[in-house]
Amino acid sequence: MITLRDIKANDNFCALIKWAGKCMETKGYTEHGIRHCSYVSTTARNILSSLDYPERVRELAAIAGYIHDIGNSVNRKNHGPTGACLAFPLLMEMGMDIDEICMITSAVGNHEEETGSAVNEVSAAIIIADKSDAHRTRVGRGKYNPEDIHDRVNYAIRQSKVMVDSDSRIIQFSIEMDKTSSVMEFMQIYMTRMIMCENAAKYLGCEFQLVANGQPINNQSVISGGRVDEESA
Ligand SMILES: [Fe+2]
Ligand SMILES: [Fe+2]
Repeated sequence: MITLRDIKANDNFCALIKWAGKCMETKGYTEHGIRHCSYVSTTARNILSSLDYPERVRELAAIAGYIHDIGNSVNRKNHGPTGACLAFPLLMEMGMDIDEICMITSAVGNHEEETGSAVNEVSAAIIIADKSDAHRTRVGRGKYNPEDIHDRVNYAIRQSKVMVDSDSRIIQFSIEMDKTSSVMEFMQIYMTRMIMCENAAKYLGCEFQLVANGQPINNQSVISGGRVDEESA
């Protein structure tokens, strides 16, 4: 069976990830390289393991998370569906089972708010993982532009984490912002993404809770679960 390790060792996927990151960097977007892909992969896998999904489904989420942005190598617009179409023949060539491929391509094709929504558990997990990657490290080194709201918001986020409480079925995304920006500005650019996360969490039978600077923003209950946005030791 194809694993994340095989995908990482595949020259075609490596090239697509490299080119996607390069295109986004040239266009002045926040970091979309290997760090972002790895974060989404790890976090999506951990969300599904916290909720006790089968091992193979977690692996598919890790793969989908790792390749979810390859469509940016073609164009930012519609990069979800484009990425799915790029991934399909490559995964076929690697000999992956067709149902597994469709699980991955439907997740990749539905991860952006303009054209998608949670269509299965892998899709739901990568949506939450992708939209929760907000942190000052995403602002390219030496590239901070105070005129750019995305830079201001990301730069202001000193700490962000995703936690899952499997008992009360709450997925919490919390951020700590300094005064470089504000929660108001965060909501300006993250509103549709956070609503998408609420719907993705609902698909997983959970509530999505957004907490900014200790304040619940979308009035959900309080959590006591463990972090899922880090590699386990
Ligand atoms: Fe994306
Ligand atoms: Fe992404």
